[in-house]
Amino acid sequence: MSEPIQTTPLFQDVIRKRRSVRKFEPGHTVGKDVLERIVDCGRWAPSGANAQCFDFLVIDEPAVRDEVMGVFLRQAQRLVDHAKGFPAVKKTYLANTVAIIIVLGDPRWKVCFPQATTPGWDKEYKENNEAIFLCSIGAAIQNIQLGVAAEGLTSAWLSGGGEDITNRELAELLGYPDWMRAYGTIPIGFPAATQNRRYRRPLAQALHWNGYETGKYRSHDQVDFYESTLRPFAMYRDEESLETWDDRAEKLGDWDAAFTSAIPNPSGELEPEAEFDKPRTQGQATKRRHKD
Ligand SMILES: Cc1cc2nc3c(=O)[nH]c(=O)nc-3n(C[C@H](O)[C@H](O)[C@H](O)COP(=O)(O)O)c2cc1C
Repeated sequence: MSEPIQTTPLFQDVIRKRRSVRKFEPGHTVGKDVLERIVDCGRWAPSGANAQCFDFLVIDEPAVRDEVMGVFLRQAQRLVDHAKGFPAVKKTYLANTVAIIIVLGDPRWKVCFPQATTPGWDKEYKENNEAIFLCSIGAAIQNIQLGVAAEGLTSAWLSGGGEDITNRELAELLGYPDWMRAYGTIPIGFPAATQNRRYRRPLAQALHWNGYETGKYRSHDQVDFYESTLRPFAMYRDEESLETWDDRAEKLGDWDAAFTSAIPNPSGELEPEAEFDKPRTQGQATKRRHKD
């Protein structure tokens, strides 16, 4: 029999309220105490070896914020020019933030993670150390976003600061060593429109009890369909379930059951590893990407 445990329903609310919002109401400010509470949530994040391989830069001065926005406007333009087909919104919304928090990753702390002491074991540990490092930073970013939601504010999670040119520009502007990296940039503000929901797979599809359920496997083609066709809508529409889309039939076509049912792969067959770095089919986005 399961034991009764004390749950914190409010916390589940905060989890659901955390939403990527990219449109803020202008004209608001918040106190430093609010921002300190939010950063403290990041400080309490778990990290590999408790290395705390992150620092938090809070930008609440409008003049500095506008310079940070300038960096991200240039970053967005590079995406348009060199990473064609990826859905993006204009980052001028950063002008309406009450603050921007940048989570810096400090790579020196990777030495605290397991290091190979036996010849030939470098690869085994090195790659996982990179994962430990990035997951630790991700945990801090996530905690901050949850802290923002708990304060009744909204935020987004921008990863462009991790790109070389963008990080160099941010380092120069904000004075940190450029070998540290701005993996997470979190614009914070008051939402201009309510955005309560966002597409999520049905729980039954994502959840595997006591072992990987192969009927829940998503095929290579399904991944490609999401990349080529569904992605911009799944990223931005204010709907949790694809079933509620008015244009469900048009957008999902033959892929409807794979995305909306508990069993996307009724045959239960798995596929071998393929080249995962790039899409394997030529969908709309992929075509746009190749267009010059
Ligand atoms: C590692 C990571 C990187 C992301 N990078 C960006 C980004 O550069 N720009 C952006 O607008 N959103 C970014 N997002 C936000 C996602 O697009 C968003 O979380 C997703 O579409 C789900 O929406 P939700 O956060 O509202 O639930 C990122 C999220 C994560 C976890």
